[in-house]
Amino acid sequence: MKTTTHTLRKLKGQRPIAAATAYDAITARYAAEAGVDIILVGDSVGNTVLGFDSTVPVTLDMMVHHTAAVARSRPEPLLAADVPFAEAHYDYERVLAACQRLIQQAGAEAVKIEGGARLAPLIARLTGAGVPVWGHIGLEPQQVRVLGRYRRFGVEAAEADRLLADALALEKAGCFALLLEMTESNLARTITETVKIPTIGIGAGPHCDGQILVCTDLLGLTPGPMPSFAHAFAAAGDEVKKGFAAYVMAVRARQYPK
Ligand code: KIV
Repeated sequence: MKTTTHTLRKLKGQRPIAAATAYDAITARYAAEAGVDIILVGDSVGNTVLGFDSTVPVTLDMMVHHTAAVARSRPEPLLAADVPFAEAHYDYERVLAACQRLIQQAGAEAVKIEGGARLAPLIARLTGAGVPVWGHIGLEPQQVRVLGRYRRFGVEAAEADRLLADALALEKAGCFALLLEMTESNLARTITETVKIPTIGIGAGPHCDGQILVCTDLLGLTPGPMPSFAHAFAAAGDEVKKGFAAYVMAVRARQYPK
């Protein structure tokens, strides 16, 4: 069954939502067949498959390229794409044009935008124009060069108050869901209990309406250290290496082709 922003909203309070990233058609197909509810073409494509050290270098063209690849797999999960670094801070017409490319050209069914209440007026205009927006608060990885590091958000009371206000402003602006990244667990629970739209957490504890993980982490494909909250549910990296090694041996031993 096709997941839409409508069916997703109805899952709040019914059962946890399972979301994952994917950046290509084949991974997206596996995720869809496994029952994932939302596929996010995250700008984490930068640090996972493109070899950058953060999401900052990822451009709109790259997002369109990878989103279109995922869309070609015709996924049953809702297909969302990230609006990349700095793009959401231009004027409304340019942001709308970026969303239009992700939706019309690439085939995304929703966009995700990092940023809190300060972006709410812009997001209200986007949702009014028919762009389904998934808000993203807490740690905003596109801010890493300003922050100087990745850290947990909402531990201090003032920051927790601001994040709750962000969540309410984004809900009012028409976001169909909120992503809470590295948000203190009790705050994530408060936000989840306060807003009527689903919250999807990553490193935000167990109280959100759903969870999201980066596919390379959850599949065990990440070569180096993973974020502390991530968990590998498979050892695909070992299997991939085994496959390559068996192929190399077979070629060198003239066992392949027969
Ligand atoms: O780009 C991404 O992968 C994200 C994660 C927080 C899921 O936004």
